[in-house]
Amino acid sequence: MSLTNKVVLVTGAGQGIGKAIALRLAKDGADVALVDVKPEGIQAVAEEIRALGRKATTFVADVSKQDQVFAAVDHTERELGGFDIIVNNAGISQVASLLEVTPQEVERIQAINVHGVLWGIQAAAKKLKALKKPGKIINASSIAGHDGFALLGVYSSTKFAVRALTQAAAKELASDGITVNAYCPGVVGTDMWVDIDQRMADITGAPVGATYKKYVEGIALGRAQTPEDVAGFVSYLAGPDADYMTGQSPLIDGGLVYR
Ligand SMILES: NC(=O)c1ccc[n+]([C@@H]2O[C@H](COP(=O)([O-])OP(=O)(O)OC[C@H]3O[C@@H](n4cnc5c(N)ncnc54)[C@H](O)[C@@H]3O)[C@@H](O)[C@H]2O)c1
Repeated sequence: MSLTNKVVLVTGAGQGIGKAIALRLAKDGADVALVDVKPEGIQAVAEEIRALGRKATTFVADVSKQDQVFAAVDHTERELGGFDIIVNNAGISQVASLLEVTPQEVERIQAINVHGVLWGIQAAAKKLKALKKPGKIINASSIAGHDGFALLGVYSSTKFAVRALTQAAAKELASDGITVNAYCPGVVGTDMWVDIDQRMADITGAPVGATYKKYVEGIALGRAQTPEDVAGFVSYLAGPDADYMTGQSPLIDGGLVYR
């Protein structure tokens, strides 16, 4: 198993893509710390991981708060006896016209999607340096980090920012043996897309379900992405086969955005 004896922290691990990543990395042999702003989901995921024979611990934190992210990393090391990998997965969506979006809405999504990733990079890198260990930092970007999408403009800007942080952190941390990469999913059938579809319907008047269907119809492989499709790629990024890769944000989207 590629992650035997590794300790991984996953943010936004209570549902959706983060849950699938946590379960997949546990199947790869890792012990996993599950971090989320909501307590319910991570408790259930922890039980699933323990049933696989791996250790799991939970920690409730809001990734937009620097001190809470640092506390989550400290908790992980204390409870699981080490620290090797962070997956900065937590994020929120936002559907709004660039002409209508408010300062409060912009600040909220930047605090979670951009600052949350930055605090995760900081906390993980400082812990790895203190432990004098190599490690991996893996961040959630998106197809919206490669293309700006209408009514998802501010969301897109946060995911472009994740790619910038990923590149800069890769350059700053390479000499410490820490690699930094991102994953860029396409249209994944999680609660996030239920919400995006509903808010698109509210703004454009499209029937509920129509926006999701339109996006899925644009996928070359002909189906929506599953959280497990994303988790398989994150498993690669977390494992030894990705040791020579850093600063990259590859698309894993079934053929939707091409770079
Ligand atoms: N669903 C998609 O199609 C898609 C596509 C590309 C990228 N992504 C990205 O993947 C990541 C996960 O998306 P998802 O679809 O699983 O979303 P989701 O809404 O299903 O789950 C997100 C999880 O993050 C948690 N979270 C939200 N704000 C948080 C905060 N401030 N602190 C800690 N936890 C917080 C939520 O409680 C939830 O458990 C996000 O960064 C998202 O932008 C999703």
